[in-house]
Amino acid sequence: MAIYALGDLVPTIHPEAFVHPDATIIGDVRIGAYASVWPQTVLRGDDGYIEIGEYSNVQDGCVLHTTSITPTILGPSSAIGHAVHVEGARIGTGCLIASGSVVLNGCVIEDGAMVGAGAVLSYGVTVPSGHIALGVPAKIRENVSFGPDKIRFVVDNYVDRAKRFRGELRPL
Ligand SMILES: CC(C)(COP(=O)(O)OP(=O)(O)OC[C@H]1O[C@@H](n2cnc3c(N)ncnc32)[C@H](O)[C@@H]1OP(=O)(O)O)[C@@H](O)C(=O)NCCC(=O)NCCS
Repeated sequence: MAIYALGDLVPTIHPEAFVHPDATIIGDVRIGAYASVWPQTVLRGDDGYIEIGEYSNVQDGCVLHTTSITPTILGPSSAIGHAVHVEGARIGTGCLIASGSVVLNGCVIEDGAMVGAGAVLSYGVTVPSGHIALGVPAKIRENVSFGPDKIRFVVDNYVDRAKRFRGELRPL
């Protein structure tokens, strides 16, 4: 397991969370119950803290970092898709941050909001509930196609998947 303290900054990982052995967790990182962190993801809490809410997932190849002013907070029951970069942003409950997107300092993704695949949100952008950010630079529009049910499906799928990995994963 690549899980490191940095001086007094020590990760806290709920015993019911799943952290893949090839993820890297450093410093003040707080991971809640039934949350999951997937291979090649880096959570580096060296300045501010990183919080992963219960039932949330951070999929393969993500990079989450912070600044001392803006921690990175992922609320409960939210999903971060593959290869996403989040830097000092606050993501609410029931959100989906889709593959390959970039969410920078001071952004706020309100409960139930979404960031579309490949979007880039520069500093301090707020995505209101029920809306989606799309494109580069991201533009915000009403989210009509990927609603709370679909986001819930992704979240539940990863809770089940993490349970399977906890029981069945073995190195060869
Ligand atoms: C946003 C998304 C859901 C597509 O939404 P959609 O409403 O089905 O999109 P449509 O194909 O109907 O296109 C609607 C408009 O959005 C645009 N659009 C769709 N996806 C886009 C994207 N990722 N980036 C930029 N624009 C996008 C389309 O060009 C179209 O624009 P127009 O109205 O100006 O013509 C999809 O791009 C996405 O991000 N999916 C993420 C899936 C995911 O992460 N799943 C979980 C992983 S585990």
